[in-house]
Amino acid sequence: MPTQVTADVQRAAAALLAGELVAFPTETVWGLGAVVDDELALARIFETKGRPDDNPLIVHVATVADACSLLDGSDAGLLASRVLRRFAPGPVTVVVPRPSSISPRVSAGLDTVALRVPSHPVAAALLAAVGRPVAAPSANLSGRPSPTTAAGVLASLDGRVPWILDGARSVVGLESTVIDCVPGEPMILRAGAVGLEELRTISTAADVATHEESLARSPGTRHRHYAPRCRVLIHDPATPNDEDTRLVLAHAGSAAYLGIGPAPRQIEWALIERCGDVHAYAHALFEVMRRCDEEALTLLVCERPPDSGIGVALLDRLRRASQPSD
Ligand code: TXA
Ligand code: MG
Repeated sequence: MPTQVTADVQRAAAALLAGELVAFPTETVWGLGAVVDDELALARIFETKGRPDDNPLIVHVATVADACSLLDGSDAGLLASRVLRRFAPGPVTVVVPRPSSISPRVSAGLDTVALRVPSHPVAAALLAAVGRPVAAPSANLSGRPSPTTAAGVLASLDGRVPWILDGARSVVGLESTVIDCVPGEPMILRAGAVGLEELRTISTAADVATHEESLARSPGTRHRHYAPRCRVLIHDPATPNDEDTRLVLAHAGSAAYLGIGPAPRQIEWALIERCGDVHAYAHALFEVMRRCDEEALTLLVCERPPDSGIGVALLDRLRRASQPSD
């Protein structure tokens, strides 16, 4: 199937309403959308991405009011509306009881659903034009880095998706913070740009789920994610060690470096991306992974980011990418 790239929001909305998949920009990463009440289109999302059936999708709506209309009067619903009113539109997703209007197919059979109101103007315009909720995972093949530009979507899904809606690059560059509201206090299932400190302004009991809790509550976290084809090494300049040095030397000529500080000097790097700050670093991560794939590099060395702010989400993605495939 030829993939068409368009900047025409109305055309993209019409394609979605006709049951076609449309990749579209959001401020976090690009999404691969289908209208939520079209079971065939939903099935096509899983097929197109090679996504495991047990991995639920996020439902995107145009406004905070639209999201609140899908909440019930339970403690979880009230908490979610507080989170949304404080942080949305923006890079957060709330997990709440699933209303009967949303098919269990969207949430892989769970009795909860994930809701998000993106702030990217093109996403907001598209969702307003569609007038119905749009289910969308990130627009990459399952397990691969999420795209932050239209070119990134093409690299992963050219010929597999009929439409890509063009728009400005994703400013955050990492996926949304997924916040489970069902326990009655906010629990972070996936780290993102909205961190624990910010959530604690809403509830002092806000917390980050343990690895086991995440596995139990968010099936998507079971699968390997965000990884380029090559090996990823997290390098801490403060604690140099022989094992890292040996690995870097073994990949001389086909290794990439990504970080804020300077690249270690032992070898000639095939690619060096130095970022001005941790936000630029978060934004560059998936794009650099994609270039490593394109240039068939064999090692990506990433400087260990600070364990605060967006650095927490960045470190989470780096840890997942550096794990061996399952
Ligand atoms: O920033 C984002 O969230 C992007 C853009 C496109 O909105 N979307 C995204 O979708 O990252 P995806 O499918 O790649 O990741 C969705 C995550 C998965 O970890 C999944 O397990 C979790 O959200 N999730 C979805 N529904 C859930 C639910 N009902 N309960 C718990 N976790 C859920
Ligand atoms: Mg994803």
